[in-house]
Amino acid sequence: MPLVYTIVIILKVQIAPGLHLANPVIAASGTWGYGDETGDIVDFQKLGAIICKGTTLKPRDGNPQPRIIEVTAGILNSVGLENIGVEALISGKAPEWAKWRVPVIVNIAGDTVDEYGKMAARLDGVAGVSGIEVNISCPNVRKGGMQFGTDPVSAAEVTSAVRGSTSLPVIVKLSPNVTDIAAIAVAVESAGADAVSLINTISGMAIDVNRRKPRLGNITGGLSGPAIKPIALSMVWKVAGCVGIPVIGCGGIMNAQDALEFIMAGATAVEVGTANLVNPQTALDIIDGLQQFMQAEGIGKITELRGAARL
Ligand SMILES: Cc1cc2nc3c(=O)[nH]c(=O)nc-3n(C[C@H](O)[C@H](O)[C@H](O)COP(=O)(O)O)c2cc1C
Repeated sequence: MPLVYTIVIILKVQIAPGLHLANPVIAASGTWGYGDETGDIVDFQKLGAIICKGTTLKPRDGNPQPRIIEVTAGILNSVGLENIGVEALISGKAPEWAKWRVPVIVNIAGDTVDEYGKMAARLDGVAGVSGIEVNISCPNVRKGGMQFGTDPVSAAEVTSAVRGSTSLPVIVKLSPNVTDIAAIAVAVESAGADAVSLINTISGMAIDVNRRKPRLGNITGGLSGPAIKPIALSMVWKVAGCVGIPVIGCGGIMNAQDALEFIMAGATAVEVGTANLVNPQTALDIIDGLQQFMQAEGIGKITELRGAARL
């Protein structure tokens, strides 16, 4: 009879000083609400972390409907940062998060550099907030958002403003809608980011030929889902080769195989977005799938797979 043995699997990863995740699978901003929407359907406490909906200083209504449509191999969204605002988040959401095992990271967006700094200062020391993801990559707002993420100087300015206003771990979320994403990554690393996450959605649109009108109320939106995975993967590969800080890979991850590709390209952790909208169980299935792969390959620590394809 062949000898069957199991090894101890360690999925723990470190994103920043003081931010340790039980596993590398994170729910991406905008696809997991404020963490509690799934209720008992999904055991979300098992996730590595949850990144909440993009939050601004004041509440926002977002863009006109329709805001989410399906396209080939993905979706286009133009939600436009509809959110409850940072004060309602601090009073209404963070106290609940403080009771959770899963760390919650707050995704922030601002119209000005000053607003980013103010939000970071406001979130500093709030129980239940484990980190900040700085969204300088939203393609769906007129002011702010992506405008800061397409230029290394302004990306660094926003990062410095946030870094100088909080002791929380700072992850800067990068835009793929740029010529050289590595230059932006290097700039935010120099400005004090603890980690970078990439990619946010890719600018796109669709037209209803019968109505002869754009399908999204906002005309353009951001493309996400399997359609963007090869682009995201190549950007993660590029950035991981240029920065020393942890890289969080995101874009079209639908299963454990996809997550492994990002990790082997150099990602420390991954964010799962659109897949949650298809099946909210996906992120947990990915955690199981990582474990199964490691067991089959005799790999004890997930960190051993990081950058494996680069060697
Ligand atoms: C409906 C929707 C809303 C999103 N909202 C945000 C947001 O508020 N802040 C942000 O940084 N990214 C937001 N994103 C981008 C995702 O977090 C992620 O970066 C992107 O969708 C690519 O990953 P995916 O292909 O796994 O979805 C949103 C994406 C979707 C689909």
